[in-house]
Amino acid sequence: MSTLTIQGLRVEVAGKEVLKGFDLAMSSGEVHVIMGPNGSGKSTLAHALAGHPGYRVTAGSARIDGVELLELSPTERTRHGLFLALQHPMEVPGVRPVDLLAAAGAPREGLAELMAEEARRVELRPEVLERFVNVDLSGGERKRAEMVQLAVLRPKFAMLDEIDSGLDVDALGAVARRLQETTTEWGCGVLAITHFRRLLHELTATKIHVVTDGRVVATGGPEMAEILEKDGYEPFRIGL
Ligand SMILES: Nc1ncnc2c1ncn2[C@@H]1O[C@H](COP(=O)(O)OP(=O)(O)OP(=O)(O)O)[C@@H](O)[C@H]1O
Ligand SMILES: [Mg+2]
Repeated sequence: MSTLTIQGLRVEVAGKEVLKGFDLAMSSGEVHVIMGPNGSGKSTLAHALAGHPGYRVTAGSARIDGVELLELSPTERTRHGLFLALQHPMEVPGVRPVDLLAAAGAPREGLAELMAEEARRVELRPEVLERFVNVDLSGGERKRAEMVQLAVLRPKFAMLDEIDSGLDVDALGAVARRLQETTTEWGCGVLAITHFRRLLHELTATKIHVVTDGRVVATGGPEMAEILEKDGYEPFRIGL
């Protein structure tokens, strides 16, 4: 059993504070969902955890099993069991997915076969993974390719920023099911950012966190997604 604990995280972007004391704690096998209005800081959380330059952490901590991730290089964070799928996956010309995964610690033995099998599970044509990372992939193919990376690396915790954006309805179901399966296959903790309740048809949220203006302002169970769909974020802005 592992834990991911984010405490009092404050992050500045371009001289402006975007995360203003973000807290979240989760354990292996759980699915936590972050929902919030555009510009509330959801992707900033993902970038800060990725160690992206330009996202300056001014306070707080993010630990997996007590190890402070924020003091580690991005590669070391991956090796400590953190996986991140960013909202806009980057093109990496000259690097093939198989080499990226090997560099991240996946054993080369049987890797191509494993990738092909995982591609099928998210309804991605395996030959797409022979191209350079994300180069000439459609938006939906990029999202599915991220899922293949996740499944091969088997992280302790996977944070996915709008993995459902751009997916057709069949792929959406396949990705949601694959995510759900990771929680029992190796006890992956899933932290998913989304705008849409439809991701949660086949992915069961342990908790849903509402983020507005850089912090978690409410946490609930799966019913929270229905409340948000009905009432929007306005009720959660009161008092801010
Ligand atoms: N690299 C950057 N440079 C300047 N401002 C940034 C940068 N990244 C984010 N911001 C600003 O920080 C705020 C939060 O952005 P963020 O991308 O975290 O929002 P979000 O919650 O992910 O929104 P969305 O739902 O639209 O994806 C916004 O005001 C945004 O303009
Ligand atoms: Mg975002």
